[in-house]
Amino acid sequence: MSTHTEKTVDDYKAFDTDELDTFQPTRKVTLKTFRFNAETDYLPYYKKYEMEVGKDELVLDLLNRIKWEHDGSFSYRRSCRHGICGACGIKVNGKATLACKQNAMELIKLFGDELLIEPQSKKRAVKDMIIDKKDFWDKHAAVTPYVVRDVPARPEHETQMSPKQEHMFLDADLCIQCGACHYSCPALEANPEYFGPAALTAAYRFSIDPRDEFSNERLKTVGEMGQGVWDCVKCFECTEACPKDINPMEKITKLHNMQFERGVAVSNVATRHAEGFLRGMKKYGYLDEADIVTYSEGYLGMYKHLGAAIKMMRSGKIHWHSGIPFIDSVPKIKNLDEVQKLIQISQTNKL
Ligand code: FES
Repeated sequence: MSTHTEKTVDDYKAFDTDELDTFQPTRKVTLKTFRFNAETDYLPYYKKYEMEVGKDELVLDLLNRIKWEHDGSFSYRRSCRHGICGACGIKVNGKATLACKQNAMELIKLFGDELLIEPQSKKRAVKDMIIDKKDFWDKHAAVTPYVVRDVPARPEHETQMSPKQEHMFLDADLCIQCGACHYSCPALEANPEYFGPAALTAAYRFSIDPRDEFSNERLKTVGEMGQGVWDCVKCFECTEACPKDINPMEKITKLHNMQFERGVAVSNVATRHAEGFLRGMKKYGYLDEADIVTYSEGYLGMYKHLGAAIKMMRSGKIHWHSGIPFIDSVPKIKNLDEVQKLIQISQTNKL
């Protein structure tokens, strides 16, 4: 077992890199490293390597030193060393890390003098840090990740884009396909059919592209239950993991809206659930928990949630009569008309 100190994401964010200046210039560190060769090993194992780590070294430098100074068979992917190619994604103490971008001393400060070096997905390991990313690339290909448009063989001028249209990409075009978000996504771990945040970010990037003529078909694909945007659990793990600060969850939320705006949303439990939020806000200015369940799942479906409903009643979150159909018993907020006006002004989706 690792002896590293558990830290939260907030601790990590609060860490000021200026602290490195007062930190001792080198630290003796143990790298507890995942080792596995699918061709020769039945099971993976961990091997420890000790080294003095300098304050300017990157995690990729440590991987290089394992290979160059300790064991030439140690394997990992890297190419550009500039955070561009996306090859060097690994996990350090469970944290998604782009090895060529991450300062090692920052992680030592955060986790202590033993770092746990693992591949992005242990079950996909082929050799040490190298994993089989077939599922990642298959899902990427499934969202048609390119502009589809009939253009003349010899166009007379380039396709112009306004700054406003360019802004709509929201940096989705900066994705380097490192897999950090994909292999940090718990929804994908639970449901292998789910496209995952990286493929959905690509789907957004090309669906918002003003040159693309395939966006409605693409939106239908990513709107399908079981594989698409409605299977995101909004846990923000992808956003925490992304080394390029792209915020994949924001793109997934945009795709939710685009389903309605482009008129491709089909009525299902997820789309009705999304609509249900607005129904309550329009009517009462409050979230109507009971109505969301009956509206999205039907009266028969709501019996599945009877246990949760009783707990919510006990804690005062819903009132016993608000769960009964046709009884308009939820209290209304004071300035309901203002809320209704705001909804009217800002609503782009049609219920
Ligand atoms: S080596 Fe290219 S992103 Fe790290």
